Parts: sequence; C-alpha cells; structure tokens
Amino acid sequence: MLNIQSIPVITIDGPGGSGKGTVGLLLAKKLGWHFLDSGALYRILALEALTQGIPLTDEGALERLAGTVNMDILLLDQRITDNIRSEACGNAASKIAIFPRVRAMLLERQRALCRPPGLVADGRDMGTVVFPHAILKIFLEASVEERAKRRYRQLKDANQNVTLQGLLEEIRARDVRDRGRVIAPLKPAEDAVVVDTTGLGIEAVFERVMQEVEHCLY
Ligand code: DC
Repeated sequence: MLNIQSIPVITIDGPGGSGKGTVGLLLAKKLGWHFLDSGALYRILALEALTQGIPLTDEGALERLAGTVNMDILLLDQRITDNIRSEACGNAASKIAIFPRVRAMLLERQRALCRPPGLVADGRDMGTVVFPHAILKIFLEASVEERAKRRYRQLKDANQNVTLQGLLEEIRARDVRDRGRVIAPLKPAEDAVVVDTTGLGIEAVFERVMQEVEHCLY
C-alpha cells in the first residue's frame, strides 16, 4: 500500500481567475508530475446533478452522486470539458461545494489521485485540507477586476456568450461563497507563499512560482 505522505505534492490555491489552473498545468508539465484540477471535480459533479435533475440543495443526494460519478477527468471527452468550463457550471460547483458530506466524499477521491513521481494540485483547499503535508503551498491572488477580465478573455476565446459586467458580479458572488463557507473556506494555508498576480502576465507568474519551486526542490 502506497503511503501518499511520501509522494511530493505542490499545491496552488486561489480564487477563480487567479491563474492557478494555467500555472499549475505548466508546473506539472515542467516537473513531469501529475496534475489535479480539483475545481473540475466539483464542476463535473455539479453538471451531473443538473443533468439528473438533482437539486443543488439536496446534500444527501449530492453525497451519493459524489461517491459514484465518473471523475476520471483524463478520459473526459471535449464536450464535457467545454460544458464544465461555463460560468453557470462554476457557480453551481460553488453552491454544492458548501456541503460537508459532499466535500468528505470528494476528499478521498482527490487523495487517491496522488501518485508518483509527484502531484501538482490546484483548487481552494489543497494546501489547507486535502494535502496539508505538501512540500510547497502557493496561494495566488489578483484583484476582482483583473480576474473578471481574464475570465472574459478565456470564455470569449471559447465562444461563450458573456459580458464583463456579468462576470464581475458572478465572480464577486462566488468569492463571497467560497471564502465565507464554514468548511474548507478559500484562504491561504498558514505556511503558504502568497503571490499577488495583479498586473502580471502568466509568464511572470510562472517565473515567480518557479523561484519558490527551485528553492524548495533543489
Ligand atoms: O476552480 P474552479 O473555478 O474550477 O472551481 C469551481 C468551484 O468549485 C469553486 O467556486 C468552488 C469549488 N471548489 C472547491 O470548493 N474546492 C476546491 N478545491 C476546488 C473548487
């Protein structure tokens, strides 16, 4: 039986639009490690609940769904990956993420994805709850205006019909929910390195993160 404590983990947490997904994926590729996009798990669950007509307020039904839904994100087809990227799905994911029993069910499923030679995990509670033994914890921040602009460009590039003002409001509401929930709220771990990415391009953010990684690994 593999002891996950012996597998190196780097966590990258932060609010939506902070750049954690892009930076996390680049880092995983650079190190040759696995990558866990934990937000995708919440999004897949939310999409499945919407598809099956399960109310986003029914904790028991959502918990059962969380134990059975196929979350092998590597095997997902493009249609599902596109669907889960919508702002509506992100909001639904944030709503179901408040339930302790749903989070508990997903906790073990996330830890099971920790495999050699190492894991880069991005989300909200990777450093605080899921992988507290991580060798490096990064927390990315950015102003809400900048995050809305980044999301706007991403979603427009994906041909989604969104407005900047609408995104600003949705991101603000999601921030309040993610930061204010009782269980595993969005916040930096005590031992996290906090990086403000406002005004920085993705290359600059990646460079800054790599400085920390090099310091920690070599
Ligand atoms: O990172 P994202 O935008 O794909 O995440 C969508 C929602 O899922 C987010 O608003 C809250 C929830 N989430 C969470 O509660 N914990 C995580 N580790 C990742 C996502």
